[in-house]
Amino acid sequence: MNASLFEPLTLRETTIPNRVMVSPMCQYSCDDRDGLATDWHHVHLGSRAVGGAGVVIAEATAVEPRGRISPEDLGIWSQEHADALAPTAEFIREQGSVPAIQLAHAGRKASTRRPWEDGPRLVKQDEGGWTPRGPPTIRTPATRRTRRRPSAWIVTTSTR
Ligand SMILES: Cc1cc2nc3c(=O)[nH]c(=O)nc-3n(C[C@H](O)[C@H](O)[C@H](O)COP(=O)(O)O)c2cc1C
Repeated sequence: MNASLFEPLTLRETTIPNRVMVSPMCQYSCDDRDGLATDWHHVHLGSRAVGGAGVVIAEATAVEPRGRISPEDLGIWSQEHADALAPTAEFIREQGSVPAIQLAHAGRKASTRRPWEDGPRLVKQDEGGWTPRGPPTIRTPATRRTRRRPSAWIVTTSTR
């Protein structure tokens, strides 16, 4: 194993204590379908920081409600959403780790069922789903849908 794995890494003004980074992992666990972080997210992310990871990246977090992959996705489309995540970011910092977040928009892949749930992939409007927006002529393999602009995008950024 390369010895530098446990060496600090400085990226601009942020110093990461080691090169172990937790990838963003969708939890589909906002059971109230409001995009607000819960104890689940706090424990899921916080425990990785306790474990010593240098960076902990929160899952794909939707920048608007219709940008969620599923209705249960985490979101950050209001101050209330940022406030719900703030204690987790602070806890991660207290552990000496760097909190980060993957800002995301599911585009035409939005409004689908959680991976472990049975039934059709699409969540219909009368089930709490919505009409996704994405590139107009490109079909989504999972759902065979075409949707309107804009295109999907994903940005990963630090919260500092
Ligand atoms: C449960 C789970 C959820 C994931 N959610 C996301 C996600 O939100 N965003 C993302 O870009 N990748 C997601 N991935 C992919 C991981 O971030 C990672 O890229 C993938 O597991 C490969 O990493 P590895 O090469 O270190 O094994 C997820 C993976 C798993 C296992």
